[in-house]
Amino acid sequence: MNHYGSPPERTPPLAMVLFGASGDLTSRKILPALANLADNGRLSENFTVIGVARTVWDDEQFRQAALADVANAGPTWRALVERFRYVAGEYASQETFDRLKVLLAEADANYKTAGNRLYYLATVPEAFAMVAEALAKENCNVPGDGGEFARLVVEKPYGRDLGSAIALDEAVHKAFNEDQIFRIDHYMGKETVQNVLALRFANAVFEPIWNRRYVEQVQITVAESLGVEHRGGFYETAGALRDIVQNHVMQVLALTLMEPPTGMDARHIRDEKVKLLNAVDIPTPDEAVDKSVRAQYLGGEIDNVAVSGYRQEEGVSPESETETYVALRLRVENWRWAGVPIYVRTGKRLPHRVTEVALQFHSVPFLAFDGAMSRQLRPNTLVLRIQPQEGISLHFGAKVPGEAFRVQSVAMNFEYASSFQETKETDGYPRLLHDAMNGDATLFIRSDEVQQAWRIVDPYLQAWSEPGGGLHFYNAGTWGPHIAELLLERSGDAWRTPTP
Ligand code: BG6
Repeated sequence: MNHYGSPPERTPPLAMVLFGASGDLTSRKILPALANLADNGRLSENFTVIGVARTVWDDEQFRQAALADVANAGPTWRALVERFRYVAGEYASQETFDRLKVLLAEADANYKTAGNRLYYLATVPEAFAMVAEALAKENCNVPGDGGEFARLVVEKPYGRDLGSAIALDEAVHKAFNEDQIFRIDHYMGKETVQNVLALRFANAVFEPIWNRRYVEQVQITVAESLGVEHRGGFYETAGALRDIVQNHVMQVLALTLMEPPTGMDARHIRDEKVKLLNAVDIPTPDEAVDKSVRAQYLGGEIDNVAVSGYRQEEGVSPESETETYVALRLRVENWRWAGVPIYVRTGKRLPHRVTEVALQFHSVPFLAFDGAMSRQLRPNTLVLRIQPQEGISLHFGAKVPGEAFRVQSVAMNFEYASSFQETKETDGYPRLLHDAMNGDATLFIRSDEVQQAWRIVDPYLQAWSEPGGGLHFYNAGTWGPHIAELLLERSGDAWRTPTP
């Protein structure tokens, strides 16, 4: 079922099984997203949640957590939480699944969940394959009596390199068919990420200039001012390339640079994204060193507050070699983008939180304005601001009022908040959960897509795996190490400084 653009208001009857129910992701993202759907009347009345996790809780403790995790929950959420059940147990244990099956049968009987299942893997990634296999062994990979579907939602990280992603896919595919699998990347649920499609394919003016003839370079920035918070232990095993570039950056890049799809459904959109990712140049490990910068934050100041360095964070080794910043110079080798540098960067503890895509256009072939007249003129740039202050701005030259003829760059701004009054679900989870419940896979990541994204980043992981691995350092509160400037300076380019 594909109905991108017009999701039905209410979900079909179903029981959701949440593995990792006592975890951080459940508490920060999944339960608040469910509460949002419940309180906005978007969940079926025939719906309930069964939590599964190793933490020794009972039903009541899970319910208390589900209330505590949701600030300002409405009455619908409170009533729904009364139904929640909880299974405490190991993911590898038969007992866990025996109990789960009893509770699923009870859900069908008590809440008419109609044999439909949505299994959500929000566990540690090491348990993904194990849980999928156990579900299949217990025949939970097919709908219950009279049901229409059994779906599996899988969180990130999906593998830690190409080899492990392929192995995970093989294990999961033994248990579920690809069309039952919904791999989440919460960036795809963001309104402004989806708006890239609207901007490009619902307007006639942009598409003709969206190519190498007009675009000189593309910059994608995912900057965070936060550090690793309480996730130091996890982050030590990940680093910025795995945590952000392989997934969020690749998704934004694919939507920005792909060819127009012939339909706005799961197959057409994902086919185009994969085609684009297939065209991203895969460097040799030597080239990868030359085309990348990896760095880690030292102590510094953000918004006049002193913050500590990465190696001093909780759960982080004092000798850690993990990168918290990555900059890459990519190429897309197809007719549309050949020769256009695609610069991407992401980092923690940068001056402020901002995600944006900037297309910088070629300068005019001949500038009739001399130095003094045009000193403040910059190339035309179209900036898609993903977050915060979501919007789009076009930067162009305008005459400065007055007798002297001077031109200067100005911006024409569209802001989401001033054009649309509705409250937006900015973190993406409610939208994605709703889509998974309705069986719309358009915004989820297909197997070939996730593997290709790993194929692109793998050479960097390999190139950096030597001790020291070319790790640089930057002070918290700056835009990264100086050497990242040189990555662009070589081609006469410079990073933008995104506005707060
Ligand atoms: C997550 C990463 O996927 O995305 C985090 O694991 C990161 O490290 C987060 O902070 C950023 O998401 P957002 O929606 O705040 O941009």
